[in-house]
Amino acid sequence: MKKTDKKDIKNRLVALHEPSNPQAEYFRTIKTNIEMANIDSQIKSLLITSPTQDSGKTMISVNLASTYANDGVKTLIVDLDLRRPSLGFAFPFLKSCPGLTGILDSSQKLTLDDAIVKIGDTNLYALPVGVRPVSPYSILNSEKLVQLIKQLQEEFDMIIIDTPPVLMVTDALLISKWVEACILIARGSYSNKKDVRKSLKSLRDSNANVLGAIFNNPQMKQTNYYYAESDA
Ligand SMILES: Nc1ncnc2c1ncn2[C@@H]1O[C@H](COP(=O)(O)OP(=O)(O)OP(=O)(O)O)[C@@H](O)[C@H]1O
Ligand SMILES: [Mg+2]
Repeated sequence: MKKTDKKDIKNRLVALHEPSNPQAEYFRTIKTNIEMANIDSQIKSLLITSPTQDSGKTMISVNLASTYANDGVKTLIVDLDLRRPSLGFAFPFLKSCPGLTGILDSSQKLTLDDAIVKIGDTNLYALPVGVRPVSPYSILNSEKLVQLIKQLQEEFDMIIIDTPPVLMVTDALLISKWVEACILIARGSYSNKKDVRKSLKSLRDSNANVLGAIFNNPQMKQTNYYYAESDA
């Protein structure tokens, strides 16, 4: 598999920087589909995962979060890919921020406001990982993280959580316990159907509310993003 250049994510934030670009329409369609999936009570926390690496999770998470923010929704994107944090590729200034691990480290005495970064003059906020933790499991299993997410759910109208691939580590399955819904990102050229099915099954076996899968076509031309029903 060709190695991708993560730095290129910051050039792909169409929904944030060029909301009238036709490509930003893909993300509005995804948002509409999410809304249609739960008409009676709007989803306010969403986990994004994929079967394997490099599927476009971070790129899509940030564009989707920007789409909500552009619609006036106070939106937070949380990087819970504690193994390969990527929000810093989208927003390089986040690399020096204390982030999630800063808040969880009580010796630093940080508040949420110290760790959450507002993105420009928008309704979009970001919580990066901060210093990469030695033991992601102990963070993901901590009561402190659950309490923090509850607090964030009170402060924000939408929280989008970027997570590691579901077939590689169990992080996304753990996180799915405290979010309202999940979406799987499959990369057109190299996510095979078997992996997609296996990932959907793992999420469902963990009682996750899986809304569906997005097939991400890296060429980003015409009908690139498909929103499939979750029985893929
Ligand atoms: N539709 C697309 N068109 C063009 N480039 C894309 C597209 N989707 C993703 N990419 C590029 O592919 C690379 C991988 O995307 P991204 O980092 O979002 O994937 P990921 O699933 O978060 O990866 P990881 O598993 O490492 O966290 C990035 O360089 C990104 O800009
Ligand atoms: Mg990523």
